[in-house]
Amino acid sequence: MRHRTTVFTVLGALCGVLALALPASSPRAAPAAPAAGHITVFGHRGAPAHAPENTLRSVRSAASLGIDWVENDVQRTRDGALVVIHDTTLDRTTDVEQRYPGRSPWAVGSFTLAEIKTLDAGGWFAPRFRGERVPTLQEYLGLLDRTDQNLLLELKQPELYPGIERQTLDALGRAGWLDGPHVTRRLIVQSFSAPALRTTHRLRPAVRTGLLGSPPAARLGQYAAYVDEINPEQRAVTAAYVEAVHALKSPHWPRMRVNPWTVDSAGAAAALVKLGVDGIISNQPDVIEKATRRRMLRPL
Ligand code: G3P
Ligand code: CA
Repeated sequence: MRHRTTVFTVLGALCGVLALALPASSPRAAPAAPAAGHITVFGHRGAPAHAPENTLRSVRSAASLGIDWVENDVQRTRDGALVVIHDTTLDRTTDVEQRYPGRSPWAVGSFTLAEIKTLDAGGWFAPRFRGERVPTLQEYLGLLDRTDQNLLLELKQPELYPGIERQTLDALGRAGWLDGPHVTRRLIVQSFSAPALRTTHRLRPAVRTGLLGSPPAARLGQYAAYVDEINPEQRAVTAAYVEAVHALKSPHWPRMRVNPWTVDSAGAAAALVKLGVDGIISNQPDVIEKATRRRMLRPL
């Protein structure tokens, strides 16, 4: 973790100088571009092979494994709180069915934060995680600051939550995550929804964004005005597709990046590195971290 931190620190220092010279919200600010050949490994929903996904324990687990970047999913409760959970219903990853049997289909947006905070979000994974709670975005960001980790924040099904782009940016701002160091080095907002990313970019041009999915190469250019990364499902990645993404300049980088998901074996990661990807989103980030570090030492 320290080695990677050093890479980011050096790049960050360079970009910090530029960030000081420009307003933090300026699209002309120069965010840290990862070093050539450096593969960024993202822990998908934290470290979900070791702890219940999207919980604070999952973040701590990723930190203890030396994972710098974690991915999460942000949604909104009935009373307007931002919470970190993947599914749009609560039944898979909490004990909501037992606690609120009459509230099927248990949509996240139909429960208040107080109700959601009564749920056990860890026991489904393993008994020793009983009592873990669904975190709010504020709690999640606070922990990342304490562990010195970075965030790939997914706006999950934003069409269900009108205005969630602005609300999420407000929450990020209140937590100090829209200052120069955070937007240049520690935060990427991603979504399957291109309109949500366009809105995010319009409201806060300094924030880096990633489009989930694999739009046809011919259409990539239309996203380059407000998207920095294309994050496709791994089977969609070919050398030609990576080349097509890299040929485009993004709002913050001389070329757009590609981070496929969800890549859980060293072999699959090595094949994707060979195709030229920039990062890998994984349920086994420690496995991928080790594998990609080895490949960096012995270039393909
Ligand atoms: O980060 C990629 C991945 O999170 C997208 O799919 O369904 O796991 O949110 P999903
Ligand atoms: Ca996600």
